[in-house]
Amino acid sequence: MKPKVFVTRQIPEAGLTRIREVCDLHVWESEMPAPYDQLTKRVGGMDGILCTLTERIDAALIDAAGAGLKVISQMAVGYDNIDVRAAAARGIPVGNTPGVLTDATADLAFALLLAAARRLTEGVEYIRSGHWTTWQPRHLLGADLSGATLGIIGLGRIGKAVAKRARGFDMRILATSRHLTDTEAEAHGATRVDLPTLLRDSDFVSLHTPLTPETRHLINRETLAQMKPSAILINSTRGGTVDQRALYEALRDGVIAGAALDVTDPEPIPLDDPILTLPNALVVPHIGSATVKTRDKMALMAAENLIAGVMGQPLPNQVKLP
Ligand code: DGY
Repeated sequence: MKPKVFVTRQIPEAGLTRIREVCDLHVWESEMPAPYDQLTKRVGGMDGILCTLTERIDAALIDAAGAGLKVISQMAVGYDNIDVRAAAARGIPVGNTPGVLTDATADLAFALLLAAARRLTEGVEYIRSGHWTTWQPRHLLGADLSGATLGIIGLGRIGKAVAKRARGFDMRILATSRHLTDTEAEAHGATRVDLPTLLRDSDFVSLHTPLTPETRHLINRETLAQMKPSAILINSTRGGTVDQRALYEALRDGVIAGAALDVTDPEPIPLDDPILTLPNALVVPHIGSATVKTRDKMALMAAENLIAGVMGQPLPNQVKLP
C-alpha cells in the first residue's frame, strides 16, 4: 500500500506528479489555505504532510495527524509557521527548500531596493492621476545606488546573493549576522559591523534574517531612530521582523525616507493598514520566490523531502534545530 500524504495547498504540478509516483496523494482542493480546524481533520491518518508558510503546524496539529506521521515537508526555506521542537519531540523530521529560491528572492529584494530608491510607484501614480504635464528638473528625485552603503542584516544564502548584486552596482556593503566572521564578510565584499553601526551608516538596510523570537521586531521604534533620515528599509524575509506600526510612524514622520516590503505582519496586509496610504511605502504580496522555475524547484524539493520521510530515509534537506 502506498503511503498516504496530504498536501495543504495547490502547489506546482511538478511536485504533485512526483509525489503521485510514490504516494497516495490527497490535496487541499481550494486555492485558499485550509482553515486550521479543517486542516486538523484532513491530516488525520497521514504518513506525511507537505505544507506551505500559510499553515500553522503546531503540536496539536501534529498530534491530530496521529502516530503514523513520519515527516513534515515545508515548501519554503523559512519555517517559522512550524513548531519544529514539537515535531522533534515526536521524532518527526521537518524538511524545507533552501538554495533553490536564493536568486529569485535576492532579485526581488534588489528590485524593491531599486524601485524605492528611484520612487517608481510614485512615478506610476503621478502619471495615472494625470499630473504629468512636463519634464521637471526638481521632481521625483531619488537616491543613487552607486557609492551608497547597503546594510545587510543576515548574511546567509540570500543576504550573500544580495551582496553580489550590490557589488555590481558599486555599493559599499556592511553586514551583520549571528556567526559572521570578518573573513566570511570580506569574501562577499562586505565589512562586518555591529547592528548599531550598520543602522547608523547605511543608506539602504535590507533584512535577510529568519524570523525567530530573537529577531521579532528587530526593526522597531528605537532601531528605526538609529537609521539615517534618508535611509530606505527593504524587507523580503518575514513581516514579523519589523514592528509595522513603528515603521508606519517612522515613514510618516520622516524618521526614515522609505520602505519597500515583500512581507507584512499579518499577511495579507489589511486594506486599512495605514502604511498603504503612504507614498514612501511600497508593498508587494510576498512574491520573493514567485518565478515559474523557482516555484517548480521548490515543489520538487519539497516532494523529495516528503517522499524520503515517508520511506523512512534521511531527508535531502532537513531543518536542524538551533
Ligand atoms: C520562503 O521560502 O521562506 C519564502 O518566503 C517563500 O517565498
